[in-house]
Amino acid sequence: MSTFNIAVIKGDGIGPEVTASAMNVLTKIGERFNHKFNFTESVCGGCAYDKYGEPLPKESLDICLASDSVLLGAVGGPQYDNLPYELRPERALLGVRKAMQLYANLRPAKMFEALKSVCPLKNPKNIDIMVVRELIGGIYFGEKGVRDGKMGREGYDVMAYGELEIERICRTAFELAQKRRGKVSSVDKANVLKTSGVWRKVVHEIHEDYPDVQLEDVLVDNMAMQLVREPSQFDVVVTGNLFGDILSDLASQCVGSIGILPSASINETTRGLYEPIHGSAPTIAGKNIANPIATILSAAMMLKYAFNLMEEGDAIESAVEKTLNSGARTADLREEGHEVLGTREMTDLIIKNI
Ligand code: IPM
Ligand code: MG
Repeated sequence: MSTFNIAVIKGDGIGPEVTASAMNVLTKIGERFNHKFNFTESVCGGCAYDKYGEPLPKESLDICLASDSVLLGAVGGPQYDNLPYELRPERALLGVRKAMQLYANLRPAKMFEALKSVCPLKNPKNIDIMVVRELIGGIYFGEKGVRDGKMGREGYDVMAYGELEIERICRTAFELAQKRRGKVSSVDKANVLKTSGVWRKVVHEIHEDYPDVQLEDVLVDNMAMQLVREPSQFDVVVTGNLFGDILSDLASQCVGSIGILPSASINETTRGLYEPIHGSAPTIAGKNIANPIATILSAAMMLKYAFNLMEEGDAIESAVEKTLNSGARTADLREEGHEVLGTREMTDLIIKNI
């Protein structure tokens, strides 16, 4: 029997509910495939601020760094909106990503056949996009501050990308494309931004090592339009931190709901951070109505990417698919003629199908 030590950041809002679902699913996988998953809670985000006065206490980060991988629900909430920047719950998430050096954020937006009717697009074709978002650089981590400017108080955030940062994220994208449909769309704003000029040059230089992959450049504004117009044209989409944040939300809605999109934040080691792309959804927290699927699918990504447990990861994905095929829906996927299930009921059905 193999043992895996997983740090769990339940976080805020719906975080505790959706992580509970994913842990139950992992426990079922452990029973079926004879693995042991140990869960250690790491208190991060708004709840850590409430308890310890800081969003990312050292002990919490140490738990993540000592684990085999981290599962995260969500952080944040309106009660923290007026906190100074350094104390906001989001600092915990960004801090864990940075401390673990997780530069590549994989966000797969794949259409489930059963959810075609929930998709807001007319006649959606098969959508299967892998957004590869750079996660620990760019404008999120550049120099920032507030100063006196000519127009009064002036906030600033520097966007910069170095060659080596661009190289490693686009290698991730090219290698993924080789295992998929062989196409990479690199998204930038090279008609305006210097950062994008360097980004584009480096992506093309590195592309020379991957002659079997087709590369195209897409400006970010055009990308937003194309994702709504014809999302099925994309395979792997590689982009910087800010554009990736925005475009992955857009891509998620193309496949039905942000409630089903998982993500893996990784680097060349096996220790990563696995989390839904949605936030803490404070307005529905604690009501047993959140969709647990994004976190459950994040656990499946953890099995595959961190632990190389392919069959086990597939078992979760098939169970989710089977459950959706049977007509089960959570409130975000509400459809006429379908009974709406709560977080726990949806989770139980998925577990039954494993
Ligand atoms: C995401 C979220 C985070 C981000 C927030 C909560 C800091 O929107 O993971 O997409 O911007 O990266
Ligand atoms: Mg986001």
